[in-house]
Amino acid sequence: MEIIFKNVSADFKIGPIRSPFVLHSVNMIINSGAFTAVVGHTGAGKSSLLKAMNGLLIPTEGKVIVGNMIIDAKKNKKDLKAIRQKVGMIFQFPESQLFAETVEKDICFGPINFGVPIKQAKEITRRVIKMVGLDSEILTKSPFSLSGGQKRRVAIAGVLAMEPDVLILDEPGAGLDPQGKKEILTLLKKWNQDRGLTTVLVTHDMNDVALYAEDVIIMEKGRVVVQDETRKVFSNNELLNQYSLDVPDARRLQQKIEDVSGLKFPHVCLSVEELADALIEADVL
Ligand SMILES: Nc1ncnc2c1ncn2[C@@H]1O[C@H](COP(=O)(O)OP(=O)(O)OP(=O)(O)O)[C@@H](O)[C@H]1O
Ligand SMILES: [Mg+2]
Repeated sequence: MEIIFKNVSADFKIGPIRSPFVLHSVNMIINSGAFTAVVGHTGAGKSSLLKAMNGLLIPTEGKVIVGNMIIDAKKNKKDLKAIRQKVGMIFQFPESQLFAETVEKDICFGPINFGVPIKQAKEITRRVIKMVGLDSEILTKSPFSLSGGQKRRVAIAGVLAMEPDVLILDEPGAGLDPQGKKEILTLLKKWNQDRGLTTVLVTHDMNDVALYAEDVIIMEKGRVVVQDETRKVFSNNELLNQYSLDVPDARRLQQKIEDVSGLKFPHVCLSVEELADALIEADVL
């Protein structure tokens, strides 16, 4: 499912005060089946951009089009329900929203709330718990008895149970150990590749951007200032300096090798594997 922003501006109104720099005239298209990373400094508007994709933040101007659904200032609450089903949002620390006595009840809650019969909701639950790499035995446990990584997976399973076409995630690896984070991101990439699930990921970690995302959106002060292929973004030093963006570790090491040896690699390496191949090709090992 494609996501289109047409001249979208939005702000948070607290009483008479409007919060500036939330979203400003955002124009962009995220293609169906894309895996896009959203980066930018704190307060740049990344979370707000995600919220605008599923109607948690309504534009004051312009419109967001998701598939054949439109979110604009005129949208009424009822229509937003369909959008929230199609666009699954995983917040930062989603496990804080687990609430039911058992994992099964927690995951079933969404589908049942959307009118899916209980028997079918339970079937969906069995399917999604497998998708997130957990054993079905966990379904009878209390979500609060699980480890941090398991809770995160259960929370993600709850969103998958709604059978969304788009998955938007705000720092899904935050607070997990490196292995747990890698496993979650690998799962996301797999669903994206196997099921064509359009995926939009907010992250501060440029290694994750390099390893998982095909495209990057850079935000600054509520604006989308860059949208381009990941490799192109990390090949453009001027741009990286302009927005003071970090580079992935493999790229940093590659630059060091270039500086020290005078060697010039033909292309930018985004992973350790790519760098190893480039070194073998350059015959320096
Ligand atoms: N609920 C809210 N009420 C009022 N203002 C808000 C609210 N949420 C965000 N803002 C403001 O909107 C702007 C963008 O915030 P947003 O949370 O989208 O940034 P972000 O890029 O996700 O930052 P971070 O990297 O810290 O998560 C900030 O200026 C922030 O103060
Ligand atoms: Mg945020």
